[in-house]
Parts: sequence; structure tokens; C-alpha cells
Amino acid sequence: MVFDHLAELARSARRITVLTGAGVSTESGVPDFRSPGSPWLVHKPIGYAEFLSGAEVRAEAWRRKFAMDDIYRDARPNRAHAALARLDGLGRLVAVVTQNIDGLHAAAGLAPSRLVELHGNGTYAHCLTCGQHFELATVRRHLEATGCALDCACGGFIKSATVAFGQTLPTATLQRAVAAAKGCDLFVAVGSSLVVRPAATLPQIAQAHGAVLVILNREATPLDPAADHLFRCDAGDGLLALLDGVAATAG
Ligand code: APR
Repeated sequence: MVFDHLAELARSARRITVLTGAGVSTESGVPDFRSPGSPWLVHKPIGYAEFLSGAEVRAEAWRRKFAMDDIYRDARPNRAHAALARLDGLGRLVAVVTQNIDGLHAAAGLAPSRLVELHGNGTYAHCLTCGQHFELATVRRHLEATGCALDCACGGFIKSATVAFGQTLPTATLQRAVAAAKGCDLFVAVGSSLVVRPAATLPQIAQAHGAVLVILNREATPLDPAADHLFRCDAGDGLLALLDGVAATAG
């Protein structure tokens, strides 16, 4: 069986870090970013500098965000998210470092202490100046009533709590992600095209610190030649095999 080898790798691993990309959420109906026909290619995310450049651009950024939210409003965690939450329960997971903003790892029950949301979280908004949290429904009601983006009472701009292109990742988040890459003996990159940095630097940081690098993905990635083991597979199938391997030796 193609996954026997993956289960064997999991059996001998003691500290596993998993990097996830949009490919772990497609089974839940959340489209990925670069597969042909992705609605993200239509509702292109607006970069940070552009977002700051004017009120109309901010309104358009919110319109695109809510259009995407409506596409996957009913998304629920799938087998991949559930497998990682169960892996957490077996005591061998260092962290899940996710590029996803859909909140599905948390919804699957993964402990916050084991989850690093590298690109933030699209389930709430905050003021870029004072940090105040805002419910998305509040922002959406204002946008639909006025056609304008809601600004904070402090005068700051309100943005989804995601990291936009050109926006600096919070230092603490990046430090947690790098620590998880350095602190594992098995690094699994799953459901990602591995083209966006700094996420795409983590696999080789892990290898440089002695980890075995496994890539599970439906399509080729630029890091495939560097991988110690490559599985061209579905994210859910691969992560269930990983979980089975760890569960076989847990305890
Ligand atoms: N099983 C395995 N692989 C899958 C599956 C699946 N069910 N569905 C999709 N894939 C693969 C695709 O073939 C693709 O190679 O997952 C990968 C997803 O790649 P992207 O769409 O580029 O998503 P991701 O790597 O997460 O993008 C990184 O780019 O646009 C930014 O901020 C955004 O976080 C995102 C970042």
C-alpha cells in the first residue's frame, strides 16, 4: 500500500510538525488559491499597501472577502482537520502551522497552543491602529448599508485579521512557526503549493535541523526535489495514514 511507508515514518517519529495549505480544506468546499477555476482567481485578495491607499479600495476588499466567505460559509472540518486534531491527542504533535485563514483547524478541536495561523484568521476583524476586535457581521452590515468600509472610532482602518500580501507577519507568530520547524524530527507539508514565503522556507529550516521532510500534495511543488519522501495523494488520505502510523505505537 502506498501509505505503508508513510505510516512507518510516523511510527518512528517522536515530534511531528505539519504545515498545511489550502489543499487540506478543499474537501470541505473551501477553494484553494491556484488550482484552475479557483474563485480566488476572480476575487483576487487585495494587497496591504493597496488596502491602505483609499476608502473605495477598502470597500472593494471587504466586498471580495464577503463574496469568498459566502462561498464557504457552510464549510466544516474534514478528515484532514480531524486527523490532525486526533494526532494532537496522541502527544506527538509539535504544532500545525497553517497558511489557511478559514478557522477549520480550530473548529476541528486542535488546541490553540498547537496551532500557528501564519496568515492570520479570517473569522474576525480588527483595527489596524488600536487593535480593537470587530465581528465580521458588524463590518458587513455597515458595508451593505452605506457601500463604505467601516472605520474605527479611533480613526484607524478596520481589516480582516488575515495577513495580506505585503503585510508583515506578527513576529511572535513567525517565531512560533520557526521554532516548530526546528523542534521536530518529522516535518510534513500537506496541501500547499509551497510558493509563498515565509511558509515555504519552513520545510528546509526543519531539514537543516535534522527533520525528515515529507510532502503530501496532489500536484508537484518547487520543494519536491528536496523532500525526503513525496506522496502524490489526497490530503485526507495522507493525514489519516500518518495518524494510523502514530496511533499504532502510541501509549
Ligand atoms: N489533497 C491534496 N492536495 C490538494 C488537495 C487535496 N484534496 N486540494 C488541493 N490540493 C493542492 C493543490 O494541487 C495545490 O498544489 O493543494 C495546493 C494548494 O496550493 P495553493 O492553492 O497555492 O494554496 P496555498 O499553498 O495554501 O497558498 C499559500 O498563498 O494566496 C496566498 O495567502 C494565500 O495562504 C495562501 C498562500
